[in-house]
Amino acid sequence: MNDFSPIVGILIAAVVVIGIVGCAVFLWSQDSAHYTIGKTTGHAWDENLEEYNNPLPKWWSWLFYITVVFSLVYLALFPGLGSFKGMLGWCSQSYGGRTGCQADQYAGEVKQAESLLKDYAPQDIRALAANPKAMETGRRLFMTYCMQCHGSNAKGSAGFPNLTDSDWLYGGEPETILESITNGRQGVMTANDYLGDDKIKALANYVLSVSRRPHDNQLAQRGRDLYIEEAICRTCHGDDMRGNKMLGAPNLTDDVWLYGSSEQEIVDGIKFGRNLPGGKSTSNRMPAWGGFLKDEAKLKLLAAYVYSLNR
Ligand code: HEC
Ligand code: HEC
Repeated sequence: MNDFSPIVGILIAAVVVIGIVGCAVFLWSQDSAHYTIGKTTGHAWDENLEEYNNPLPKWWSWLFYITVVFSLVYLALFPGLGSFKGMLGWCSQSYGGRTGCQADQYAGEVKQAESLLKDYAPQDIRALAANPKAMETGRRLFMTYCMQCHGSNAKGSAGFPNLTDSDWLYGGEPETILESITNGRQGVMTANDYLGDDKIKALANYVLSVSRRPHDNQLAQRGRDLYIEEAICRTCHGDDMRGNKMLGAPNLTDDVWLYGSSEQEIVDGIKFGRNLPGGKSTSNRMPAWGGFLKDEAKLKLLAAYVYSLNR
C-alpha cells in the first residue's frame, strides 16, 4: 500500500468510494422506481413468454444494502482505500500472532540478518563452528542448499559422501572444506575396461580383501599382483591404497564406501570409471557454491557447519 504515490492513492480511493455510492444510489432508484405491479412490460418472446414489471423482492434489495454498509465499514477498519491503513492498523506481515502493522518488521529482520552476516564474514571457521547461534544459521543453510545430495543428516548416500565421518575425499581441514564448497569438486576415476573382465574381478577382490570384506582369496592374490605391477590404480590411489586427497581418490583400505561394497559395484567402478565427462558411469558432481551464494559469510558458515559435524 505504501508503494503508491499519494496522488495515485487518492485516485484509487475516489474510484472505490464513487463505485460504492453509485451502487447505493442505483439500488435506491430501483426501490423507488415506479412499477406497474401485475402488468407486463408488453414484451413477449417465443410467442407467449411475457415479462412482468415487478420490483425486486424486499429481502433481496436489503441484502444489497447490507453489502454496501459492510464494504464501508470494512474499508474504514482495514486497508483498501488507497494508502489509508484502516483504523485497526491491520497488516498482512504479522508474525508470531502479534497484532498491529508490522510492515517494518520484515525489513528490520533482513537488516539484522545482514549485520549478523557482516559480523561472521571475517571470523575464523573454527570459531564459527564453536558458536551455537552461528551454527543454527549454518544448519539452516545446509538444509536449504545441501541436504538434497548429502541428506538432512549429512550422512550422504551412494555417490554422495558422508560428511559426518572422519573419512575425507579431499580433506577435513576447515580451509579444505571451504574450498570444496566454494569451488566444487568432481573426482574422476578413469575407465579400465582394457584390462578385461577377469583381471577386473581379481582387482575388485583385492580391494575387498584390504577392506577386510568377504572375498575370494585366490582372486585377491592375483589382484594384488595386478595392482602393483600392471594396472594404473597406484597413480591415484597410492602404493599403500590410502588414496590421494589432491585428486579426491578415496582410501581403499577402510570399510567406507562411496559407491557400495558389493563385488559388482566395485567391478562396475573399475570397468567404467567414475565421473567421466559424458561417461557411462554415474556423474556425481559437487557444485561450486562460491559464484552462486556470492557471500563469504554464508560459505564460511556452511564450512563451519560441516566441520562441526565431525567434532
Ligand atoms: C548436486 C549434489 C550436491 C549438492 C547440492 C551438494 N553436494 Fe557436496 N558433494 C557432492 C558430491 C557428488 C561430492 C563428491 C565429489 C567427488 O566425488 O569428487 C561432494 C563433496 C562434498 C564435500 C567434500 C567431501 C570430502 O570428503 O572431501 C563437501 C565438504 C561437501 N560436498 C559439502 C557440501 C555442502 C556444504 C553443500 C551445500 C552448500 C553441498 N555439498 C551440496 C554433491 C553435492
Ligand atoms: C585417475 C585417477 C584414478 C585411477 C587411475 C583409479 N582410480 Fe579409483 N577412484 C578415483 C577417484 C577420484 C575415485 C572417486 C570417484 C568419485 O569421487 O566419485 C575412485 C573410486 C574408486 C573406487 C570406489 C571407492 C568407494 O569408496 O566406493 C574403487 C573401488 C576404486 N576407485 C578402485 C580403483 C582401482 C582398482 C583402480 C585401478 C584399476 C583405480 N581405482 C584407478 C581415481 C582413480
